Amino acid sequence: MKKKIAVFSGDGIGQEIVPEAIKVLDAIGSRFGHAFACEYAQVGGAAIDSAGIPLPSDSLALAKESDAVLLGAVGGPKWEGLDYERRPERALLGLREQLGLFANLRPAKIYSALIQASTLKPEVIDGIDVLVVRELTGGIYFGKPKGIETTPTGHRGVNTEVYTTEEITRIAHVAFKSAQKRRRLVTSIDKANVLESSELWRRVVIEVHKSYPDVELRHMYVDNCAMQLVRNPKQFDVIVTTNLFGDILSDEAAMLTGSIGMLPSASIGSTVGMFEPIHGSAPDIAGKNMANPIGTIASLAMMLNYSFDLSKEAELIEQAIQITLDQGFRTKDIEGEGTTLLGTKEMGETILQNLGRL
Ligand code: IPM
Ligand code: MG
Repeated sequence: MKKKIAVFSGDGIGQEIVPEAIKVLDAIGSRFGHAFACEYAQVGGAAIDSAGIPLPSDSLALAKESDAVLLGAVGGPKWEGLDYERRPERALLGLREQLGLFANLRPAKIYSALIQASTLKPEVIDGIDVLVVRELTGGIYFGKPKGIETTPTGHRGVNTEVYTTEEITRIAHVAFKSAQKRRRLVTSIDKANVLESSELWRRVVIEVHKSYPDVELRHMYVDNCAMQLVRNPKQFDVIVTTNLFGDILSDEAAMLTGSIGMLPSASIGSTVGMFEPIHGSAPDIAGKNMANPIGTIASLAMMLNYSFDLSKEAELIEQAIQITLDQGFRTKDIEGEGTTLLGTKEMGETILQNLGRL
């Protein structure tokens, strides 16, 4: 198999975690005879520094002509004072919008070795396996009108939560199809007791559900979901929700697994998929060889699975991660009693070695 991959390491720890995933990709390539050609370009703060904008046109063009995108993280205190349109985060939003990546899959699964690393009680999280399906190109992130206006007495900040039937329909299909490969339960999260856009969301999800009689559909208000995720997360299989609610709930779901550093994501919806860990650029630990590369390596596994249909290769990577954790190796974020602390590079190296033995 021959594939072209656009690699955007981005900012902060992105520069450290992405190379570890690339080592794993290269190992898979040479072992199975796949030619993965990686091309690097800048996005986020790095691109602001070198080109003046977060998503230069050549980076976007590279993404569009590639088979998949691997992204580290964007952002940092250095660029926080900039206008919204010039901030590093715009690179992410621009890529999502321009590539048509309307569905964001964020699996939160507990590795048994990490049960002690969670801040929640073992019996609450043991065995959790939740997939957050987040709508990614609509809602309040993109809705208009938006902006900060001047008023006679000060200012007025505006954003608009807006969803169309089409947008809700396509994300609902992704959720139901995902559930068919899992435990066949979709919980749709909204705020239909207050918001009209949520009322439509619920109506459309109910309509789409009619094509999936083998899947159970439940509805839950977002505030209740936030509570239920820490009270009894095992009640969830697939969670489908809006852009903003999904942003918030997926961070919460991530913490159930011990660390946000563990969680991968896949953004899909058109021909090019984008894969990235769900965490940010972590400027506080950047450059210290402390970051956890597992979220990025697991994102790579999602790329092989979703974009290239290489499920066997993806499975091997997941197994290598699991074995490494079972052996007691940990980065700082998941360190615990009786475990061995590794740096970013050493963690990548250990996963690679375990992969080689499988
Ligand atoms: C995420 C991030 C992004 C988002 C930011 C960095 C723009 O938090 O991918 O969850 O809000 O979508
Ligand atoms: Mg987020």
